[in-house]
Formats: sequence, C-alpha cells, structure tokens
Amino acid sequence: MARLAGRVALVTGAAQGIGASYALALAKEGAAVCISDIRVPEETREAIAATGGHVIAVAADVTSPGSVSDMVAETVSRFGRADILINNAGLFGNLALKPFDQISSSEWDAVMSVNVRGSFECAKAVVPQMRAQGYGKIVNIASGTVFKGSPMLLHYVTSKAAVVGFTRALARELGPDGIRVNCIAPGLVMSDNVKVNPAWAADVVANNVATRALKREAQPEDLLGTLIYLSAADSDFLTGQTIVVDGGSVMH
Ligand SMILES: NC(=O)c1ccc[n+]([C@@H]2O[C@H](COP(=O)([O-])OP(=O)(O)OC[C@H]3O[C@@H](n4cnc5c(N)ncnc54)[C@H](O)[C@@H]3O)[C@@H](O)[C@H]2O)c1
Repeated sequence: MARLAGRVALVTGAAQGIGASYALALAKEGAAVCISDIRVPEETREAIAATGGHVIAVAADVTSPGSVSDMVAETVSRFGRADILINNAGLFGNLALKPFDQISSSEWDAVMSVNVRGSFECAKAVVPQMRAQGYGKIVNIASGTVFKGSPMLLHYVTSKAAVVGFTRALARELGPDGIRVNCIAPGLVMSDNVKVNPAWAADVVANNVATRALKREAQPEDLLGTLIYLSAADSDFLTGQTIVVDGGSVMH
C-alpha cells in the first residue's frame, strides 16, 4: 500500500531539479501534492498528472508571506489538509563558486532570504493547519557542505547551517502539536542546474566523489528514500534530526 495515501504534501521549488523529483516521488507514494515555484511549475504538474497523481501547481515566492499563505490556502481549499511541507526552494544550482570577499552584500542577502527566511515563511504559513490537524511533517533541506565547511560558497554554507539550527529549534516548539521537523543534508547531487553550471566541472565533481565511501555521483533519486521516510508515519518518533545523504562523505 502507498505509504502516503490520504496525505497532502507541499513542495517548494518544484519546477525542476531535485524539487521536481521530490514531488513526483510523494505523488507516487499516494500523496496529493501542491507544487510551487517562482513560476507555475507546469512541466512537473503534467508529469504527475500523467501518472494519475492528484496535483495542483501554483506560483509562490517563498520570500513573500502573502504568496506562501495563498499557496497553503489553495492547498487546503483543494485537498482539505496539509500534512507534509518540503522546504526545497533555494538558491544553489546557479551560484558561482567564489572567495568569500568577492560575494556582494546583495548576493549574500538574496541567498539568506530564500534559503533561510523562505523556509521560515513556509513553516509559519502551514503550521496553523498542521496544528488544527494535530499532525504534520516538515522536511527542510540543508547540505553536506555545512559539516564539511566547504569553501567558496560562504553565503550558501552559512544559510544551510542556519537550516540545521532552524530544524532543531522548530522541532522543540512544534513537538507538543504533533508536528515533526526534520532535515535532509544532501551531498553534491547532479541536478539539472548543477549539470550545466561551469562551477561544477568534471574535476571538481570527481574530487567530491573521491571523499565518499560510496564512490559515485549522486542523482536526485538517491534522496527519495530518505524523503519518503521523513514524510511518512515510519519516522513519527523522529524529530529535530538532520540526515546526511551523501554516499558517506560526512559521517556524524
Ligand atoms: N544539487 C545539489 O548538489 C544540492 C546539494 C545539497 C542541497 N541542495 C539543495 O536542494 C535543493 C534543490 O537543489 P537543486 O540542485 O534542484 O537546486 P536549483 O537551484 O536547481 O533549484 C532550486 C529551485 O528553487 C526555486 N526557487 C528559487 N528561489 C525561489 C523563491 N524565492 N521562491 C520559490 N522558489 C524559488 C528555483 O526556481 C528552482 O526551481 C536546494 O535547496 C539546494 O540548496 C542541492
């Protein structure tokens, strides 16, 4: 039986890349999904609808409180609940690697705003519905770079470190309401934008892979088992945790 039958999930940043894979996997497990991105994620909507999944697609900027509260309202109006929030939207795939003193203040603010405040805004918008249900699962997306202290992406690594702290503190605030808050920290994944970003040249990717116990590149599909586990009842006694999914580069 599908592990998410009867559940309703929201996935941000689902137009392409890892977010689109997450949305397809949640639908395959039986969840009705609201997928969102800066623009309406029409291609992902069509892909889910083609498999017979229940889906709505909306435009939602995670940095806009009004936009994300509309996203939640539309989800509840269409599907009647909101059980799972996947805080996937982020600035990553298009970022250039650069020394920290070449990062402008505006680029720093943009990364913090989407990667940190975006997750905050979405959690704030969805929690009233989860509280009313007495149940919810929030899955945040950090990065293995936090635990490695990876150089040349200081704004990004700092923002994802914040997501780990956000996960822990929010889990304590929401535990009494039956809402679980956990986090996935992926290693480098060959998502659509990573594949075309000159920052991730073959030798850079090969050096990254060499640090892993499992010596191969990661695809979005490598994250899906952990995503479904954190979204399903299987993990209902787990909260505040960050699971690193990187082929055994970071061990903690
Ligand atoms: N690919 C990797 O190696 C890797 C590793 C660790 C963590 N991650 C994280 O996983 C997530 C997805 O990774 P990806 O490689 O697919 O990234 P990506 O940059 O290709 O995609 C991110 C998506 O977020 C959307 N987005 C950006 N700003 C937004 C906003 N303000 N509101 C709504 N949507 C917005 C983009 O349009 C895009 O579709 C990101 O949070 C990323 O930081 C990726």
